[in-house]
Amino acid sequence: MGLFFHSNAAGTRLGWACTSVLLGLLIAAGAGSRFSPEGASKNGYGKTRGVVADAGMVVSAHPQASRIGAQVLSRGGNAIDAMVATHAALAVAYPIAGNLGGGGFMIHRREDGMLFSLDFREKAPMAAHKDMYLDAKGRVIPGASTVGHRSVGVPGSVMGLWEAHRRFGFLEWSVCWEGAVALAREGFPITEQQAFELNRQQAVFDGLNPGNRYLRADHAADGLWRAGDTLRQADLARTLSLIKDQGPGGFYAGPTADALLAEMQRGGGLITKADLEAYQAVWRKPIVIPYDSFTLASMGPPSSGGVALGQLLRLSEPWPLHTWGHNSSRTVHHLAEAERRVYADRARYLGDPDYVDVPVEELMEPAYADFRRKDIAYGQAMPFDRVSAGLEAFRKADAVRPNTSGNTGTERPVQNAVPTESEETTHYSIVDAYGNAVSVTTTLNGRYGSKVFVSGAGFALNNEMDDFVAKPGVPNQFGLLGDTANAIEPGKRMLSSMTPTIVEKNGQLYAVIGSPGGSKIITAVFQTFLNLTEYGMTMQEAVSAPRFHHQHVPDSIRIEEGALADSTMDALRAKGHHLYTSSTMGRVDAILVLPDGRLEGGADPRGDDQAVGVYRNAGQAQP
Ligand code: GLY
Repeated sequence: MGLFFHSNAAGTRLGWACTSVLLGLLIAAGAGSRFSPEGASKNGYGKTRGVVADAGMVVSAHPQASRIGAQVLSRGGNAIDAMVATHAALAVAYPIAGNLGGGGFMIHRREDGMLFSLDFREKAPMAAHKDMYLDAKGRVIPGASTVGHRSVGVPGSVMGLWEAHRRFGFLEWSVCWEGAVALAREGFPITEQQAFELNRQQAVFDGLNPGNRYLRADHAADGLWRAGDTLRQADLARTLSLIKDQGPGGFYAGPTADALLAEMQRGGGLITKADLEAYQAVWRKPIVIPYDSFTLASMGPPSSGGVALGQLLRLSEPWPLHTWGHNSSRTVHHLAEAERRVYADRARYLGDPDYVDVPVEELMEPAYADFRRKDIAYGQAMPFDRVSAGLEAFRKADAVRPNTSGNTGTERPVQNAVPTESEETTHYSIVDAYGNAVSVTTTLNGRYGSKVFVSGAGFALNNEMDDFVAKPGVPNQFGLLGDTANAIEPGKRMLSSMTPTIVEKNGQLYAVIGSPGGSKIITAVFQTFLNLTEYGMTMQEAVSAPRFHHQHVPDSIRIEEGALADSTMDALRAKGHHLYTSSTMGRVDAILVLPDGRLEGGADPRGDDQAVGVYRNAGQAQP
């Protein structure tokens, strides 16, 4: 196929003009059917494959973004080039979470096996302070950290893309942005889910953005969007063109920065010119987790994702999950008990490592997992008030401390609120023809973030400040608690749950996994990995399979509708678990390397997600 010009190092880059279409491209829906509840037997799995391709794969939340990313691969770009193109296209085609005005995390495995992780998380503006969301009586002001200009953190996405591309990109930067610019200018037909989301945000959007018609369907008498309507975004196309031509200067300076700062002034936001100029993406050490013959690389602090995933895997590794069965009562009970302990630790210890000491090694020590596993009993869920963070007790523990894992009770009163539903955040997975892999989770936080659009620049700003702890004991929009480790400080990064992950098997690239879903991201990635490795599912099956989730507070196992058989739920209740069913959890977009080296894309059927494969020879395309 002639891909011999490939190099991962920064060096000679190819422009559009001197690349040629080397690979065939097939666009195929990768969403599979949902799973039936008690499919515990390994033999029942391994049949329903997603899109399979032999020279590259992009899986994302929107068909247009996957197509644009795959086109970059098919024209000789590497996975990092496709990352830039996919991310930019998601900002156009999936603006509810895809973004320029947000941030995220990347895990990259180079074809030679080297691992990298990039933090382009938003930061608190320098004018932010610990009590900024409290009233005079010290109460959290409802909505202050989730809606409007003061909920916005300094965006990191454009700098993250620039930094990844500067180090590993192959094609010219501008080439990677062409697809997104065209998509914004020419428009694309929106899906039914998109029409629904655009319509339901109109009231709050109009209130915050007077005069901005972005969410209005002006062509329709009732102002409402319908599936198939074309969404054109001229302002966004101009902003994308500036970034395409000028790099990060097209966002953090010049007309885009001016528009963002004017928006801050109009609505009393805190971001200043100095905040924008100072923003840097940071290369960090990935969290590396051994599990059986697998090694997972995931994101370390300021995301909690990698540490929490590592703790969950350490806790569950000795359990015969395959024998217990997929989503059986025994499996769900044990995994939920593990999750309760891990989320209690998350709330206590995790935060931005540039500001607080995060005991990463200690939390992931096998001895700590052994200690925490001790009081997980088969017959009984641990009472809520006895589950707590465990490191202090672990540090004190010695041979004369039987029957305790540090679960001595909650440290402070908590509001045990059921979180509001928000899946927004998005994930994309990419593997190129050379074996480079990229796993990126990126977000505005809530749907359309703060609901503030940068007037004239065409993009939404995040409400990532809600991922800080406004006040210990008071949950954020995902129901997550936290402590001083994640308190607001000027310039600090807020704690995340994003868990972009790359898996090796026996030292070879095996899978690329990630999900949106707020607090549920971690458990969605965890279960998808177990579905592959413990239950022998195909990538598509692993992604489609129904999920459950426990995050300590609220004290309930949250279950996707239809995920568990009635008898399983009865057995869990008999052990003392509280259950509640919800609509969907997470949207995993993932890639599996098949034994013959081909790639299987798993696109989540919960959304409009799609896998697009790239082929050495167009005639060989097989979905
Ligand atoms: N905003 C969701 C997260 O970072 O976890």
